[in-house]
Amino acid sequence: MAEVRLENVCKSFGDVKAVDNISLHVKDGEFIVLLGPSGCGKTTTLRCVAGLEHVDEGKIFIDERDVTNLPPAQRGLSMVFQSYAVFPHMTVFDNIAFGLKLRKASPDQIKERVKEVASLVQIEDLIDRYPYQLSGGQRQRVALARALAVEPKVLLLDEPLSNLDAALRLQMRAELKLLQKKSKVTTLYVTHDQVEAMSMGDRIAIIRNGSLEQVDTPERVFNHPENTFVGNFIGSPPMNMLECDVVEGGSIAIGNFTYKLPESVVKAIRKTKTSRVILGIRPKNITITKEKRKNAFMAKIGVIEPIGEELVVNLTVDGKLLRVIASPSQDLRMGEKVWLTPDTRKIHIFDKKTGKNLL
Ligand SMILES: Nc1ncnc2c1ncn2[C@@H]1O[C@H](COP(=O)(O)OP(=O)(O)O)[C@@H](O)[C@H]1O
Ligand SMILES: [Mg+2]
Repeated sequence: MAEVRLENVCKSFGDVKAVDNISLHVKDGEFIVLLGPSGCGKTTTLRCVAGLEHVDEGKIFIDERDVTNLPPAQRGLSMVFQSYAVFPHMTVFDNIAFGLKLRKASPDQIKERVKEVASLVQIEDLIDRYPYQLSGGQRQRVALARALAVEPKVLLLDEPLSNLDAALRLQMRAELKLLQKKSKVTTLYVTHDQVEAMSMGDRIAIIRNGSLEQVDTPERVFNHPENTFVGNFIGSPPMNMLECDVVEGGSIAIGNFTYKLPESVVKAIRKTKTSRVILGIRPKNITITKEKRKNAFMAKIGVIEPIGEELVVNLTVDGKLLRVIASPSQDLRMGEKVWLTPDTRKIHIFDKKTGKNLL
């Protein structure tokens, strides 16, 4: 088991800064997820840790050992890719045994270890099959078993579930998490899927344009996003973002309405001397009523999307789109004018200029 530390790691391809000064401390036994949109540098970061890319600047440590200039084989880690590269001409047994043979383990040792990891990922019964005789999920398990067989200090996973269908992905998500908890292997897991990240990670490292935006627990990134990017990226439907002017008396202007902010929020805004802010509020934290309420603002209902137990109600406020999760028991109609009351305890205020959360 091991800690992984990245210190000011940079990696460019020509003009593209794929990894832009990333520092990250992954604790022993931790499951950390690198999350971000396509092209933000997740794979490159992982490949730098693996030693498959040489960093331009910065250092990488595994435990106290500086591995920055070590070849992949000497770093003590295993990597599983999106396209679960299992060897097609080898049985499951030989696939799993591959790394052990390279390490010159004895036949008995190999047999025992293969049995152990095959049972861990629940493919004991498939040991004599060839990959073409396996489903996608089973093949991915073989890839995992092969990675775990060599008892890596660190496991690197690059979108390992993205080639699986939705149902299997859900199942494997839970299995992988359990497997990681059982094996306690320090894991860096890459995905662009925020739900996957939220459900699996002990902590999530959110990356944009090669830079870390926030590294925090799933609970923290959801409830305390450090900036508009994180607020937007985490949660579905995404957080509503309304640009507003700060007006006299501790309020903000939303279209023709003034929305009174709690005193603590007003104080935080005052400190920054900003006059343009973004009000962030999640779709679940707004109540729709037909009657006017205190500190509510008016909106017009657009399309209503039923999604089973809930409705996603699209509304416009001052020409801007807002989404609210409502109950199907509420009798709402397209074109109707209604009142929206944000839950004051759940609002976020971001600086319009910097995007930083002011609270
Ligand atoms: N070998 C390469 N040569 C040139 N550009 C690359 C190479 N690998 C990645 N990039 C670029 O670096 C950026 C980050 O890529 P990548 O790490 O693959 O992102 P992600 O995994 O988050 O989708 C992208 O702009 C990508 O086009
Ligand atoms: Mg990638």
